[in-house]
Amino acid sequence: MKATIVTLPGDGIGPEVTAAAVKVLRTVAERWGFQVTVWEYPVGGASIDRFGVPLTDETLEICRRADAVLLGAVGGPEWDDLPQQLKPEAALLALRRELGVYANIRPVKVFPTLAGASSLKTKIIRGTDFVVVRELTGGIYFGQPRGLQTERGWNTMVYRRREVERIARLAFRMALERRRKVTSVDKANVLEVSRFWREVVNDVARDFPEVTLEHMYVDNAAMQLVMNPRQFDVILTGNMFGDILSDIGGAVSGSLGLLPSASLGDSGALYEPVHGSAPDIAGKKVANPIAAIASVALMFTHTFKVPEAAAVIQQAIEHTLAEGYCTPDIAFPGAKTVSTDDMVQLILHQIENIQEERKSGVII
Ligand code: IPM
Ligand code: MN
Repeated sequence: MKATIVTLPGDGIGPEVTAAAVKVLRTVAERWGFQVTVWEYPVGGASIDRFGVPLTDETLEICRRADAVLLGAVGGPEWDDLPQQLKPEAALLALRRELGVYANIRPVKVFPTLAGASSLKTKIIRGTDFVVVRELTGGIYFGQPRGLQTERGWNTMVYRRREVERIARLAFRMALERRRKVTSVDKANVLEVSRFWREVVNDVARDFPEVTLEHMYVDNAAMQLVMNPRQFDVILTGNMFGDILSDIGGAVSGSLGLLPSASLGDSGALYEPVHGSAPDIAGKKVANPIAAIASVALMFTHTFKVPEAAAVIQQAIEHTLAEGYCTPDIAFPGAKTVSTDDMVQLILHQIENIQEERKSGVII
């Protein structure tokens, strides 16, 4: 089978972690009989420096035609003072919107060996396994009117029935494959848009009697995530609340450097690590490539439809961590801290081992 993947490495540590992820992509794709063509384009600050805009029409068009897009990260202090529409972040928002990838899936799983790397107590986070399903192309990020003047700035948080319905359906379907619980997060005690969100989610829930639905205010959800994260299975929420809660997910799991994401729509797919461009550590060979590599695992599940290949990548990551290897962001007492490149080599080595074992029937 043939597939075309567009990579948009972007800024800061983006290029380092994308290069790592592409190595894994090529290795695993070859084993599973995919002929993958990779096209690389600048995005964000890198695109501003070359073309004067954070996302060119040509890049967008190529992304539209690709089977999937793999993005590193965008942004950095050198582009912070530009107007909103010319900032690196604008590229990411335009891509999400134009590709129609309304469902952002951010799994948060605490690896047993890394429980000590979190700033939270091991007994609180052990066994945590939830997924944030974040609405990605609506809400306050995109609502009109919006504006910025000397004396006031404003944005609009609006959700339409169709937008809430489709993301809610996806969350419920996902819950059916997991522990059958959906926690819908909103601020319905204050916001009309949240009352509306709640009503639509309740409507959708009627089609999924096997799934338990609970509603939670976002402030409480933030607290519950650090007090008792194990209670969550699928967290369904809007664009901005999902942005905030998934960063808390990073704290729970030990590091944002571990969290992958898939953004899915009716046709396009965009894969990106949850972490940002981390300009302070860019080029120092210390970036954690795991989130980007795990995003490739999500690509195998959702784009290539071979969950077995995704499982190999996931297992390779887990084995590598279980052997005590880590990058500085997740260093814990007794761990062996390695560089970005070494971490990639270790994971590739594990992938080879696991694939060999599977072939010879040791693991089925
Ligand atoms: C994320 C990021 C983006 C967002 C920024 C860079 C626009 O924080 O993917 O979580 O807010 O969605
Ligand atoms: Mn974010």
